[in-house]
Order: sequence, then C-alpha cells, then structure tokens
Amino acid sequence: MSVEHDTQQAQGEGLPGVTDSGFSETGPLGPPYPIDARVNEAGRLEIGGCDVVDLAAEHGTPAYIYAEGDLRARARAAVDAFGADAGVLFASKSFPCTAAYRVMAAEGIFCDVASGGELHLALKGGFAPERILMHGNNKTREELQLAIDAGIGYIVIDSFDEIDRLAEMLPADGPRTLIRVAPGLKPSTHAYIQTGQVDSKFGIPLSQVEQAIQKAPNFVGLHCHLGSQFFDVEIFQAAAEVLAGFEVKCQVVNVGGGFGIPYLEHDHPPRIAEYARTIRDAVAEHFGPDTKVMVEPGRWLVGNAGVTAYTVGTVKEIPGVRRYVAVDGGMSDNIRPMLYQAEYTARIADRFAREPTRDVRVVGMHCESGDVILPEVMLHEPAVGDTLVVPATGAYGHAMASNYNGVRRPPVIFCADGESRVVVRRETFEDLAARDAG
Ligand SMILES: Cc1ncc(COP(=O)(O)O)c(C=O)c1O
Repeated sequence: MSVEHDTQQAQGEGLPGVTDSGFSETGPLGPPYPIDARVNEAGRLEIGGCDVVDLAAEHGTPAYIYAEGDLRARARAAVDAFGADAGVLFASKSFPCTAAYRVMAAEGIFCDVASGGELHLALKGGFAPERILMHGNNKTREELQLAIDAGIGYIVIDSFDEIDRLAEMLPADGPRTLIRVAPGLKPSTHAYIQTGQVDSKFGIPLSQVEQAIQKAPNFVGLHCHLGSQFFDVEIFQAAAEVLAGFEVKCQVVNVGGGFGIPYLEHDHPPRIAEYARTIRDAVAEHFGPDTKVMVEPGRWLVGNAGVTAYTVGTVKEIPGVRRYVAVDGGMSDNIRPMLYQAEYTARIADRFAREPTRDVRVVGMHCESGDVILPEVMLHEPAVGDTLVVPATGAYGHAMASNYNGVRRPPVIFCADGESRVVVRRETFEDLAARDAG
C-alpha cells in the first residue's frame, strides 16, 4: 500500500459560526480574533473585558494576551463535538504553559507531550498521568523512564530503535503503546508542517508497520499525524483507510491534530463539528464503533484565544519604496513567519474600529532583515507609541519564543470578566544570566 498524493484545499462552507453543539467559533470581531473580544466605548480593543491598550501600559510589551474564556469554551466544544468516549488531547507543544494545562485538565481534555519537559509541565498543570500520551521521533531513555515512572497512559512509538528500548524498559502494566504510521498522505499546507508523507522523519513506513505491530510491547492501536494548519477535512477519511489496511485489532485509533484555524480575516476553516463527524465516521467505518477515537488538536484549542500586543517604536518612510513600522518584539516572540512564511494580520488597538489607511511592513527589533512579522498590512495611521495587536498568536508564540538579541521573553496574561492575571511573568535581565556557570 503506497499512497502519496496532494489534496486540493477544500474550505469549509460559509462563515465559521454556530456548530452542532451551539458553539460559536468566532466573536463580534470575526476571525481571527478571540470570541471574547470587542471594541469598547473608547474605540479600543478589549479582550476578556480588558482594554488592551491599558494592559500594554500596565504589563509592558510585547505581551501575549489571552481570553481565558475562549480557552475553556474551545476545550468544551471539542470534547462535546468528539463525544465523551473519545480522547481529545491538547497537543501541548502549542502552548506549554502551566495555566493552560490547568484549564485543559479541568475541561476534560487529555494531553499530548513531546518531551520530558512537556511531561513535567503537564503533571505540574494537574493532568492525571493516565490521561497523558507521549510523542517524539527520538525519545531518550531518560524521557521514556520519566513517562513509565509517572504512569502515563500512552506512548506513541516512532521507530524500531524505540521498540528495542521499550522492550527492555516497559513493564506489562506500564503505558499502552500506539504505533505511529507514516501514512503517505500530504495535506495542503506548508511543506515544513507536513508530517504524514512517505519521506518523513516521523513514523514507521507503511511496509514495516506489520513488523512493528508484532514487536511492540503493550500495543493497543495506531497513530498518524498528517501535518498542521490544513482545511481539507476529507483527508482524515483517507488516513483512517490507510490505518485500516493492517491485519490487527485496534482498541485505539489516533489521527493526530492539524485542524486549521483562521489567521486572516478571510480564512474560513471547517468547524470543529465537521472535523469530529468526519473523523468519528471514518474510524467507525473502518475499525468498528467500539474503537476509541483520539485526536490531538494544538492550535485549534489555543491559537485564536491569544493575541500579541506590541508597541510601535519607529515609523520609517523610504520614499517611493515603503513605510516600515517597527515594534518591540519580532522573531523572538513569533518565529512562524520566518520559519515557514506564516501569515498574520494586525491592527492598531488604540483605534481598532478606524478604517486602515496605510499599507505598511511591520518588522521586529532583531538584527535580521528577515525579522518581518507582516510583509504587507493595512493599518490606521500607525504612529510611535501605538499598541499594535497581532491576533491568532495563541499557539506556537510563547512555545517557540527565544532570547535572541538578549530580549526577555514576554509575559502571558489571561483575561476574563474584566480582570487580568499574569500567568507567566516577563523574564528579567537577571534571568538572562541565570544559567551562566562561569
Ligand atoms: C504528533 C502531533 N500531534 C499534534 C500536533 C498539533 O498540531 P496542531 O497544533 O497543528 O493541531 C502536532 C504538531 O506538530 C504533532 O506533531
């Protein structure tokens, strides 16, 4: 069995709106802003009832600002859509923050971790060990031992070397295992975030899966993850069909994450109910109705709940060329545009409702010409001192942040009912030297 095909991007119909469970995936500002966001009487952006310009003054910028209610509502909607018998796992690489783990654990979500560090955070965030699943294409013995000692629920096996390691280490009553299959499917998304193709560092090649199943200790099922940020929901039918091509009884089938979210105003991904219906039907059709369905959304749970607030520090006009708007962050708080040309939009939070007037390039403060957050965006008269807000940074912003150029990583602020609380503080200059040993 060797299928590898690109699929056409099939967009969801109409505007994202009310799902089968009554969940509204966007709020009054539309995609890609948090559901709990609005323009207040002062004409400024408000998130979770908090004025973003005031938050910027109080906490400084850059800052990751989340509508906490969004995190909860999205978690509930996902559990609702997939059903209580399924396992919706928070792909915690997208937002490894203790407060986020707490929210997800409280809302009935399972958790996927991809390192010893994420496992540590998930346990600290209150996840019951048996609801945790560990991933990784090169887990160390130390990480596997941590997982076994913690008593986590599942380990997803990614290679024959890992099978050999686990054969020595895994007790019969230890974590159950799934085999990660490289299904030979390519969703329509950037090549850097496709993972299910034949030529991949992830998963076991199709021709070797039967052998892996025979050898794997504590085997209970199959896993695949096709990639990230794709809208072609039908590809999950193909994935279930590929996984069903092996002579084995699966108690669990996990088809990974990757559910697309709106990053731009005109992005209209399928609704969560559509993902759920397609995946549940496909697994039931190929494996029977008693097989436990697992999915691993990361960005879908957290991406649109968060925005990044920056302060504009410099506006530079190059006559006949373009206008540069420089902010006080950049590739250190959001590397995605530089990694794989991820697109975002932006607005001036101070005059959120005003029509954009200027076509500008928004850049960061780092010593790289590639430190461009938005190559081209329309803003309302951007000026020094404005608070610029970039929505849909709730996933992989905090997670991938760095100290490049000696910047202090930004705080994470949760807002709800007009109250804000700092759940991760901004780093200090002392923090920057805290690990120096000589
Ligand atoms: C195995 C696995 N599951 C889930 C995810 C989550 O992807 P997303 O955040 O796009 O849903 C990833 C992302 O890299 C992944 O590698």
